[in-house]
Amino acid sequence: MAVRISIAEVGEHRGEEVLLEGWLYNKRSSGKLHFLQVRDGTGAIQCVVFQGEVSREVFHRSDALTQESSLRIRGVVREDKRSSTGYEIGVLDLEVVQIADAYPITPKTHGTAFLMDHRHLWLRSSRQHAILRVRSEIVKACRDYFDERNFVLVDAPVFTPASCEGTSTLFETDYFDEKAYLTQSGQLYMEAGAMAFGKVYCFGPTFRAEKSKTRRHLTEFWMVEPEVAYLDLAGDMDLAEDFVVTVVRWVLEKRRAELEYLKRDLGPLERVAKPFPRISYTEAVEILQKEGVDHPWGDDFGGEDETVLAEHFDRPVLVHRYPAACKAFYMKSDPEDERLALCMDMLAPEGYGEIIGGGQREDSLEELERKIAEHRLDEAPFQWYLDLRRYGSVPHAGFGLGIERTVAWICGLPHVRETIPFPRMLQRLYP
Ligand code: 4AD
Ligand code: MG
Repeated sequence: MAVRISIAEVGEHRGEEVLLEGWLYNKRSSGKLHFLQVRDGTGAIQCVVFQGEVSREVFHRSDALTQESSLRIRGVVREDKRSSTGYEIGVLDLEVVQIADAYPITPKTHGTAFLMDHRHLWLRSSRQHAILRVRSEIVKACRDYFDERNFVLVDAPVFTPASCEGTSTLFETDYFDEKAYLTQSGQLYMEAGAMAFGKVYCFGPTFRAEKSKTRRHLTEFWMVEPEVAYLDLAGDMDLAEDFVVTVVRWVLEKRRAELEYLKRDLGPLERVAKPFPRISYTEAVEILQKEGVDHPWGDDFGGEDETVLAEHFDRPVLVHRYPAACKAFYMKSDPEDERLALCMDMLAPEGYGEIIGGGQREDSLEELERKIAEHRLDEAPFQWYLDLRRYGSVPHAGFGLGIERTVAWICGLPHVRETIPFPRMLQRLYP
């Protein structure tokens, strides 16, 4: 009896009769032979249909197969030194599940817009497999990191009554005659979680109506956000550093083959080790000015500034204490200099930009009320949040890591659009 296996498992079934279920991605024929390249999601393998080994029907069926036709194959696993997997299948029987229509994605090169329009099919290509497997591994590494350190997973809501990261990038929805917004960040809810459990995190989709077209911005992206009670800014940076080192190591160990397939230069990833350099915003501005970038003190950094800054370091850099005026309302002021916020960003090396934003939160009720007013935000939807400062307020801190930017960095991709299965961007809501 033939056993049903996946292509990744063929090596364990040398000489045995097996059943494979998959899709045809390429075919070559010569006289009495059809060479079928079959993929099943776990890998690809050559299946050889020899006229002398199969019935006439099976041989003709193989001839009619089009690219991406779905099929079931029964055959024998044979060693084949020339193949990349080391094996091939000698076909005994072949069942067609469906003959595919003319497949739009052919081996010739296609433009990005075309591929993006066919994203639902593009996901079948080897390059997308490699990227999305790395993504899946990064997500697992993030979750494992916090789970193993006794953080409690607290899911944040997607519909929210108030903004977290400024009102200019809110997606508004009609919530039974009330206004609701798609969440920009789970942070405020994680603060409630930290006061309840001490150490928490959330992992979910977040939304920003980003009106600019850049290679780092999506309108829907995934964020992992830890939040810890009794943690200060320095401790927050320690946590972010340890977290990123652990995730990068994990992916290098588990997904090296995929990174190599993507031709990622692994050297810079191997160098991601503690300690990461830590510089203040003011020092960062000095670096920019020395590099001839005319950056006024007080403005937030843009993508280009981040690239110039990151070039100074061989590993991620932590930039702390930005001017409060260019950051969100909830940040605690630096007691040493009231103009500054106790916040930090982590910039990835090699020009991949900010991957983490976070810091210490304002824990005084009066200060927080003042900041909400200063940012011209309506206080009513924040009453629950202010309660956290009324009932046992403590110093606390956390951060958010953007999954897609992290995938772009680790895979070495210039644009975030391939880092998520179905990207949502300014001009893309399809498929
Ligand atoms: O710096 P941000 O805006 O920080 C926050 O949302 C905090 N409330 C998080 C926290 O402290 N819990 O966003 C955090 C990260 C960025 O560093 C970036 O990696 C990613 O989220 N990010 C985006 N990724 C893709 N597309 C966008 N439009 C993004 N905006 C932010
Ligand atoms: Mg930020």
